[in-house]
Amino acid sequence: MIQSLPSAAVLGARAFAALQGLNRFTDEPGKLTRLYLSPAHRQAAEWTKGAMEVAGLTAFVDAAGSVQGRREGPAPGGPCVMIGSHIDTVKDGGRFDGNLGVVAGILAAQALRDAGIVLPFALEVVAFGDEENVRFPTHLSTSCALAGDYDPAWLEARDAEGTRLADALVAFGGDPTGIAALARKPGSVKAYIELHIEQGPVLEVENEPVGIVTAINAQRRARVRVTGEAGHAGTVPMNLRRDAMTASAEMALALESIAAAHEQAVGTVGVFQVNPGATNVVPGAVEFTMDFRCPSNETLAAMDAAIRSRFGEIAARRGVALDITLYTNARAVPMDADLQDSLGAGVARAGGNHAARRLPSGAAHDAMAMAALCPAAMLFVRNEKGISHSPLENMTEADAGIAIRALLEAILELARREG
Ligand code: GLV
Ligand code: MN
Ligand code: MN
Repeated sequence: MIQSLPSAAVLGARAFAALQGLNRFTDEPGKLTRLYLSPAHRQAAEWTKGAMEVAGLTAFVDAAGSVQGRREGPAPGGPCVMIGSHIDTVKDGGRFDGNLGVVAGILAAQALRDAGIVLPFALEVVAFGDEENVRFPTHLSTSCALAGDYDPAWLEARDAEGTRLADALVAFGGDPTGIAALARKPGSVKAYIELHIEQGPVLEVENEPVGIVTAINAQRRARVRVTGEAGHAGTVPMNLRRDAMTASAEMALALESIAAAHEQAVGTVGVFQVNPGATNVVPGAVEFTMDFRCPSNETLAAMDAAIRSRFGEIAARRGVALDITLYTNARAVPMDADLQDSLGAGVARAGGNHAARRLPSGAAHDAMAMAALCPAAMLFVRNEKGISHSPLENMTEADAGIAIRALLEAILELARREG
């Protein structure tokens, strides 16, 4: 017999309770830091696998460190609808970024099972492990593995301590040689849906609990190395210095002004390392990261050219050497139009026939990688003050519940469209 689905309020309460369980696992006590392949990631993966099993999914931790759960449809091994997000975090991150989407998928699977609803497709929930790309210079490596887009060079990438990704993966319990086999066959995933905190202020300003993502912005990331000449801070006259720090500072300001001059663009220097790093030494070398994004691929390419030209001019004028290594070059990714409409139908059913706000995403998501394999779409949840990548990240339980109820309704809409 088919029972009714839980209300939004019940789903919200369940989500917040589940997040408390999952977010006990951190690499830094007192903060939420869970980097790819860390001990806290392993513990969180085990917790997630257990929660999936309780929800009636057959679950395992895969070769790349993602947790995969599946409930079969009418034809064993047949195509699935996949609900996914990630359980890695930035350093000192928020409670919801990634984690909410995983918990939402698990709660949706559980609610469908408890209601006795039989879907015409398999249902999968996936908790990816490398969305933030904080520890290693990769790009969405765990979702790329499923999409069949894994770059084997990532296995040689090193973290700040010099650990190779492949070695960290083996220590985690993964298997570098098993990654290629994770690639799903075209057609085997009918749809990928990701529920995620907005990480921006638009829904709050417009008083909307949820929104549907139209596209994910293009993004480039690079490591920049500036080499000058170290010297004595008390004796080298200003006009004879080749200070790598002041040259790099000027470059960071140039990035800021280039981003401000391009439409809807952003640019960030998030890591800045000064060497040798002593009060009384003129800095000889600096390494910093650069992350810049915007909705248009063409605008991003123009920004890249402007950055290289301005940085080159600064380096030449200041007598320092410059090396820019681009390690992420992701094109803008439109979300699937039909799947956006299915989400729209789900939002309308969950919230009194209200048409959902549509908006682009400035943040990167695993849906970018999955869109190379299958139709992909995202549902955003209102974010208090738009603050994310911060311990202050927040949302209401009520909004989380509305979003999960809309996700459930969207899955049922896909089932209806199938029939
Ligand atoms: C991930 O959250 C990113 O957009 O950098
Ligand atoms: Mn995220
Ligand atoms: Mn994030």
